[in-house]
Amino acid sequence: MPGLRIVVAVTGASGAVYPLRLLERLRRTGAEIHLVLSRAGEKTLFLETGRKAAELKALAHHCWPMEDISAPLASGSFRTDGMVVAPCSIHTLSAIAWGISSNLIVRAADVTLKERRRLILMVRESPFHLGHLRAMTAVAEMGGIIAPPIPGFYNQPSTIEDLVDSSVDRVLDLLGLADEDVRRWSGPPSAAGRDRVVSNNPAVSNNKDQSSADASDPESDECADDSD
Ligand SMILES: Cc1cc2nc3c(=O)[nH]c(=O)nc-3n(C[C@H](O)[C@H](O)[C@H](O)COP(=O)(O)O)c2cc1C
Repeated sequence: MPGLRIVVAVTGASGAVYPLRLLERLRRTGAEIHLVLSRAGEKTLFLETGRKAAELKALAHHCWPMEDISAPLASGSFRTDGMVVAPCSIHTLSAIAWGISSNLIVRAADVTLKERRRLILMVRESPFHLGHLRAMTAVAEMGGIIAPPIPGFYNQPSTIEDLVDSSVDRVLDLLGLADEDVRRWSGPPSAAGRDRVVSNNPAVSNNKDQSSADASDPESDECADDSD
């Protein structure tokens, strides 16, 4: 069976590490990757990682200029299996929310929504004002998925890579492309089975030293001073 065809757009929000990791992991799934990089995305990629656009593009199978609104992605007749904007700036979020399809990223996102395909926006800003929240609401009401890169800590991340993967895992899940590295919560480790499986990858361990605290026993977490 041929791999899925996924569109990845990279905009100028902070978090250029996310598309790097997402593309690395998408490639392993056999997905056909179509990449569009905004100018601001190219700038933040360099500012945050020192990488050039060519290095990101090397991870994709097809790269389309942001200005090329005649690219296949601009038409609903070009079949795709979903689109991720990683990271997604407020600028691009707002343009998608209000249908201002003046570049290929926004047009491809609009096409994804109108064709009822999966659109995942890794929106990155903090704090949000009401306009940001309204734009996210508008996209969600149209069927888009707002998936900000907010890491979970239940798998005990110890590196920045762990934190990044925490968000990339969920995006791969949303695309139906979870790989064997995806970590999952399977309940608290018990005294008998501290190795509750959260990853099939032996290199990824959530079983950090838990000898000093039994996570299955909330009663063991007593206050240091409860004399008064
Ligand atoms: C280092 C840096 C970090 C930025 N971080 C964010 C951010 O987290 N969220 C955001 O919405 N915009 C951020 N911006 C601003 C966007 O790059 C800017 O609004 C740009 O016009 C977005 O254009 P695009 O959506 O076409 O990529 C950042 C800019 C720079 C230079």
